[in-house]
Amino acid sequence: GADADTTTELPPDLDALRAQAAGCTRCELHQDTTQTVFGAGPRSARLVMVGEQPGDQEDRQGAPFVGPAGRLLDEALDEAGVARDDAYVTNAVKHFNFRYHGKRRIHETPKAGHIRACRPWLDAELALVRPQVLLTLGATAGKALLGPKFRITAERGEPRPWNDLTLVPTIHPSAILRADPDRGQDRDEMFAGFVADLRRAGELLH
Ligand code: URA
Repeated sequence: GADADTTTELPPDLDALRAQAAGCTRCELHQDTTQTVFGAGPRSARLVMVGEQPGDQEDRQGAPFVGPAGRLLDEALDEAGVARDDAYVTNAVKHFNFRYHGKRRIHETPKAGHIRACRPWLDAELALVRPQVLLTLGATAGKALLGPKFRITAERGEPRPWNDLTLVPTIHPSAILRADPDRGQDRDEMFAGFVADLRRAGELLH
């Protein structure tokens, strides 16, 4: 209608959506960051992966999962036999949330308000790509889509119907990078479990 809010209308394609998101001021995170880090990948992707938010490298380069966590994700996808080029990769929050430690920018978990503010972009991405399988990487992405009761340790690796697709929750690659043997976390074991979840998601594609 004449007074429709244009930001709630689905643009015709991902480029148009990306252009809209580039100017997003729905939350304050746009103020101290380099740019909106929008999703990447083809609209024809059958698999969508949703992470938490861009990190330092992603904020500088303007693409998701291009830093250390992205390299680990690439390794795991390779081992699982899932092609990243055929997947659409994005984040629950599209601006980097950080605090300064000296000159270093340290990741801060996004607040519920950031996730809520950013949700229309994720919904629009999913509406355009219409994947068969959605992988959530980590607790933030899982909670963003499944609600605050989502528990990563209990629910990861278990496919479930969600809207018109199958959602597979798994861990975040950064959790593997931070694996702490003093807390009983074995990096190789976590990596193998991550690969198994990715393989499971890949097998659900048809
Ligand atoms: N971690 C994420 O969740 N997303 C990125 O894009 C990079 C690191």
